[in-house]
Amino acid sequence: MTGVGKALPAQVVTNDHMADLVNTSDEWIATRTGIRRRRVLGPSQSFSDMAAQAGHNALVQAGRSAIDVDLLILATSTPEDLFGGATRVQRTLGAARAVAWDLTAACSGFVFALATASQYIQTGKYRTVLVVGAEVLSRWTNWQDRTTCVLFGDGAGAVLLEAASSPGLLDFELRSDGMGAEHLAIECQVEAVPLIGGMEATRGNFAPISMNGREVYRFAVQAVPDLIEKLLASNGFAATEVKGYFLHQANQRILDAVAHRLNVPIEQMASNIAHYGNTSSASVPLILDEWVGDGKLRPGDLIVLAGFGAGLSWGALIARWGRF
Ligand code: UT7
Repeated sequence: MTGVGKALPAQVVTNDHMADLVNTSDEWIATRTGIRRRRVLGPSQSFSDMAAQAGHNALVQAGRSAIDVDLLILATSTPEDLFGGATRVQRTLGAARAVAWDLTAACSGFVFALATASQYIQTGKYRTVLVVGAEVLSRWTNWQDRTTCVLFGDGAGAVLLEAASSPGLLDFELRSDGMGAEHLAIECQVEAVPLIGGMEATRGNFAPISMNGREVYRFAVQAVPDLIEKLLASNGFAATEVKGYFLHQANQRILDAVAHRLNVPIEQMASNIAHYGNTSSASVPLILDEWVGDGKLRPGDLIVLAGFGAGLSWGALIARWGRF
């Protein structure tokens, strides 16, 4: 992992703004989630531009240019095109040599995409892979539903992976459980469209985000630390050897619970949820970018990345940061 970058929409929506929109308060949102503000993409900004900017910043940090990229994976649940958003990001970036496609695994998407990218590098097929996590969940938010609209935010983050003689990405574990698919969804709603001879087709539309918060919370605080513990044990690492844990930023209470379960100081559990809310597939690279920018990670430092969310899906990955 040789470079990380981010891009964020300009608009900052605070909890006090949310309290003017729905029956909520800064106090409720902050104590239940840790969120203080979030970014929201306006009509004058584009999803592809934001995603490409994050990718560009990761390339600059790695000292590479877009033309070096062999593969571009866009982890997103909110592309501008149901056929996929990755090629538009490729076009904006100028990554003309790259093959580009989307990977959708909700808030686990970035970790799933990194794991996927690493396999192409390990087989020797590709040497330089850009993984972008970008999300505009505000487009699928019901701004009258206080149980969900206060949680989500928009943003993009990216990591560049490059082939190296000693692998930086050491191991990963990925999981899915479709039994919980209804707990968190942006569901396609269909209506019948008459065709001919009594046959019918359907026309689709997406409903806003729906979530059974308590169920997802229960799942996250159990499944995520279980998987991280398994990953650490099977690779022979103690939890305290890890410099930083970069978990999906869904709720500060989840981060606190995982730190408690792993018995690591809360300072090791990276957090910026106060500033950006839940940005789904963008949240892991956003917080990683912050630590790298602040000089809190040195090349060779051991890090754990983990995502969890709709699907249900969850995954964890252990790596050494940077060129070392
Ligand atoms: O990114 C994918 C992964 N997502 C997650 O991991 C999310 C996991 N879930 C959570 O983080 C939490 O469940 C939430 C933050 C979504 C909710 O927190 P909670 O402590 O589980 O609250 P709750 O849903 O049990 O609701 C408690 C009360 C309810 O009122 P009653 O029924 O007790 O009278 C809600 O109606 O809080 C009420 N409430 C609110 N009140 C003020 C719900 N949303 C709000 C709000 N402002 N925005």
